[in-house]
Amino acid sequence: MEKIVIVGPASQILGVKIAKKLGVDAINTEFKRFPDGENYLRINTEDEKLLENKEVIIVQSTGPGADRDQNARLLELLMMIDAVKRMKAGKLILVVPYLAYARQDKIFRPGESQFADVVLKILDAQEIDELYVVDIHAPMVLENLNCKAVNVDSMKILAEYIKSLGAEDIAVVAPDKGAVERSKAFAKHFGEDVPVDFFEKKRDVKTGEITMSGSLSLENKDVVIADDIIATGGTMANAIKLSKESGAKKVFAAATHALLLQSAKYRILNAGANDIIGTDSIDNEAAKVSLADVIVPHLI
Ligand code: R5P
Repeated sequence: MEKIVIVGPASQILGVKIAKKLGVDAINTEFKRFPDGENYLRINTEDEKLLENKEVIIVQSTGPGADRDQNARLLELLMMIDAVKRMKAGKLILVVPYLAYARQDKIFRPGESQFADVVLKILDAQEIDELYVVDIHAPMVLENLNCKAVNVDSMKILAEYIKSLGAEDIAVVAPDKGAVERSKAFAKHFGEDVPVDFFEKKRDVKTGEITMSGSLSLENKDVVIADDIIATGGTMANAIKLSKESGAKKVFAAATHALLLQSAKYRILNAGANDIIGTDSIDNEAAKVSLADVIVPHLI
């Protein structure tokens, strides 16, 4: 089936890169917000048969950005799905590197919603064929969907980029115990004997405030701190500070989804990081690594 890529408003760089790597057309969208705040989106073509019987790949991350929040990004995604179905696509594939609300995957306090499940149910109910996310916070939320759902791993390309910066004698630090398994897998991309350790992180479930403690053997090491998401930068800044206090030489702050909200850049760099490294899951200045290389092999 002939493929075509629809480039969502939130993933203009990644969408075009994926289309170019696949050697297919990349179709833009027209989007705006009406005076009452409602969103508008259309696939930017006058050819009503353009998508008919084609394998249509929609690329749209749903992270908050400078001009739209994650709710708007989700609505744009749903509008694209509807428009593509109305244009009689033969197969519908979603590439949603950052899935909004994925961190709300469990109940911490009575009365909460497990909203990650709700978002996925809404997408699944659109009768899509395949869904690709990248380094999702808790992969088990993808279980039990009707569509094929794949969590793509970006660890290899993040590690390759960090190696290209000249990092040597590397140690990988997980910002909390929950990130240790992912950090171990990440460390393997730097070499078999790269040490992995973690700090103790606690987040107050009511205030969201983070406290971190611990001292590791990082004397003269180049330290890579790897997380799935950098949001406000609090987790990273704490881990960088403790890494420096533990003797780290250079510290690289790496995350698949570097949202960099509020004062995150200041907090991370001021804590002593040499660089902030993210992917084009989020279109911002930290997007130094393109996910196209790890996503495209799934689409061929
Ligand atoms: C939480 O478990 C995530 O893996 C990240 O550590 C968290 O989302 C980072 O948030 P922030 O940058 O606001 O500390």
